Amino acid sequence: MPAGTTRRALLLATGAALAGCAAPAPISSRTSGTDPFTLGVASGDPWPDGFVLWTRLVPDRLAPNGGMPAAADVVWEIARDPYFATVERSGTVRTQAASAHSVHVEIGGLAPARDYWYRFRANGHASPTGRARTAPAPGTLPARLAFVTCGCNHFEHGLFTAYRHIAREAPDFAFHYGDYIYEYGTYRGPLPRARLHEGAMCRTLDDYRRRYAQYKSDPDLQAAHAATPFVVSYDDHEVANNWSREYAQSSGDDPAVFLARRNAALQAWYEHLPLRAAQRPTAAGTTMYRALAFGDLAAFDVLDTRQYRTRQPCGDAMQPACPAMDAPQAQMLGPAQESWLFDRLANSRARWNFLGQQVAMMRIDGGDRIFNMDSWAGYTAARGRLHAFLAQRRPSNPVVLTGDWHRNWIGELKADYDDPRSATLAPEFLATSISSDGDPAPDGPRRARVLAANPHLRHYSDRRGYMAFELTASRLDVRLRSVASVVRPDAPVETTARFSVVAGDPRVHAA
Ligand SMILES: [Fe+2]
Repeated sequence: MPAGTTRRALLLATGAALAGCAAPAPISSRTSGTDPFTLGVASGDPWPDGFVLWTRLVPDRLAPNGGMPAAADVVWEIARDPYFATVERSGTVRTQAASAHSVHVEIGGLAPARDYWYRFRANGHASPTGRARTAPAPGTLPARLAFVTCGCNHFEHGLFTAYRHIAREAPDFAFHYGDYIYEYGTYRGPLPRARLHEGAMCRTLDDYRRRYAQYKSDPDLQAAHAATPFVVSYDDHEVANNWSREYAQSSGDDPAVFLARRNAALQAWYEHLPLRAAQRPTAAGTTMYRALAFGDLAAFDVLDTRQYRTRQPCGDAMQPACPAMDAPQAQMLGPAQESWLFDRLANSRARWNFLGQQVAMMRIDGGDRIFNMDSWAGYTAARGRLHAFLAQRRPSNPVVLTGDWHRNWIGELKADYDDPRSATLAPEFLATSISSDGDPAPDGPRRARVLAANPHLRHYSDRRGYMAFELTASRLDVRLRSVASVVRPDAPVETTARFSVVAGDPRVHAA
């Protein structure tokens, strides 16, 4: 083992080589041959005794049904080593056309807090090998937990190089905050296009399936999935821009039209990601919000800020403040999810309590009292209830993890945003995009204006990448990982800032 090589790095290098990331296939070329594993493999939602394994059989993603003429048997194997010398568990599942020949296998009975390797076989082909990791056992206090937060990977705005760097880090898990796909047709805005969407705006199940298949043909995204379990949520673009409970602008005003589209989108979301059966959609939607736990060190509550929210007030997107922002009946989580969350936090025995969600929770004034009405700013009564709960019940070390804005924002939830001396309730780490909005433009006057208008903001930067977290019982360390470019292939990644939070003190410190 070369000096400085960690066990994790070695494991990852082995896994990455097995996953075939060293020689990725061209993204845009039509798949030839009959290899059905062209979309890669994935694991997700680690529990102490297992995780879910995913793949989808797609011999030809441009052909009807992904080129699958009929159902097929898929063999799965899990081993304690990347060479499968000791196969721990195996089984066979039969695919169905109704679920696009996707495979979801929920594994149990494994040992906690350890690495496993998995692969599939079908139609005479073997899949790439993936590495997963079980969560620590309940009642234990693991020495450390490493995870990343990422999302907003617009295919046309940039290359997914940041995902390759996530694969190299091989954290214990990755939280994807949403915008795994973008539903739009061809981008025609001012940014340079790194590559092109196939097809027009997604509206049908077939449209969404094809869009996921195009995104998942990306070798860097496949490498990230093969290297670490993902905990996925969704934000708006898995369905339609800025959707709420029963409305999206691009579906028109008939709720039935939108809900049919939403159901198609959620079905494709489930088919392409490592989700448990509990998240399988029905005609009523999906229960995406759910709880994960990493021993007594961390509880991780995944929130759904889309499916139950009332429609944005004051007009959508950035708007001047208006009275409807403060409507008491406005909902962000909806009553059922909100009480579930409060119960979780009230009864949690975890040292740290993470809320993995989508849109900015802390108030961000864009200057002159202009707010993003698609964020929690448009739902101040709902935000106030959550803030009051944190202030009064004081769950142990709450931390909010967010995305959506395509920038790095780091700040603090405040009891009163107009009073900087008011209580600090929790840190919020809003991670930038993998590729959305492309390479950054030079800082304009907006950055200084926003920092001045929001004294609880500790950091604002415009780079593409992800956030990497390392957690112990006593502190949370955060690195902002930024790629040099999403237009130029093979761009390196660098750490552009570091922050920390000390247990018992919700303030964010620059490191
Ligand atoms: Fe986005």
